[in-house]
Amino acid sequence: MEKIFTSPEETQTFAQHLGQLCVGGEIIFLNGDLGAGKTTFTKGFARGLDISAMIKSPSYTIIREYENGRLPFYHMDLYRLAGDNDELGLEEYFQSSGVTVIEWGNLLEDLPADFLTITFEKTGEESRKLILTAHGLKSEKFLEKVEASQWN
Ligand SMILES: Nc1ncnc2c1ncn2[C@@H]1O[C@H](COP(=O)(O)OP(=O)(O)OP(=O)(O)O)[C@@H](O)[C@H]1O
Ligand SMILES: [Mg+2]
Repeated sequence: MEKIFTSPEETQTFAQHLGQLCVGGEIIFLNGDLGAGKTTFTKGFARGLDISAMIKSPSYTIIREYENGRLPFYHMDLYRLAGDNDELGLEEYFQSSGVTVIEWGNLLEDLPADFLTITFEKTGEESRKLILTAHGLKSEKFLEKVEASQWN
C-alpha cells in the first residue's frame, strides 16, 4: 500500500488512524532517511492510542515507554544503536500486549515474527510517500483493515 501526504498534518492524521486501529501486539518499523517524517508520524500515531504525553525522540534512551494510553506504547529509535541488539531485550516488548513503533527498524538484526514496515520517502519539501508492507499474517490483516477504512 502506498500513500502520498503533502503536509506533516496529513501524515499525522493517517498515523492517528493507524493508532486507532491497533488492538495490541502490533509491531511497526519506520524506515527512511533523517528528516523523512518518522517521529512526526509517531506523534500522530500516539494520539490514536489516546496518549496525551508529548512524544519525544528516544534517540538517546533508545526506548521510551508510555503506559497511560489505551494500550501500552513503546517507541524505539535504533539510529544510534551500534552493533548487536540482543542486549536490548526487545523480545519482551514484541511479545507484550502493547504496541511497538521502531524508528530505523531496518537496523534490527533479529526480526520479530510478524511486523509491518512503513518506508518514508521525501518526495518534496512537504510531501512524503509512505509505503506500507506486511511481514506476516497479523500485519497483513492489519493492512486489510486499513484499506477497508477511511481516515479523512
Ligand atoms: N508530509 C510530511 N510528513 C511528515 N513530515 C513532514 C512532512 N512535510 C514536512 N515534514 C517535516 O519533515 C520533518 C520530519 O522530521 P522527523 O523528525 O519526523 O523525521 P525523522 O524521520 O524522525 O528523522 P530522524 O531519522 O532524524 O529521527 C519535520 O520537520 C516535519 O515537519
Ligand atoms: Mg525521528
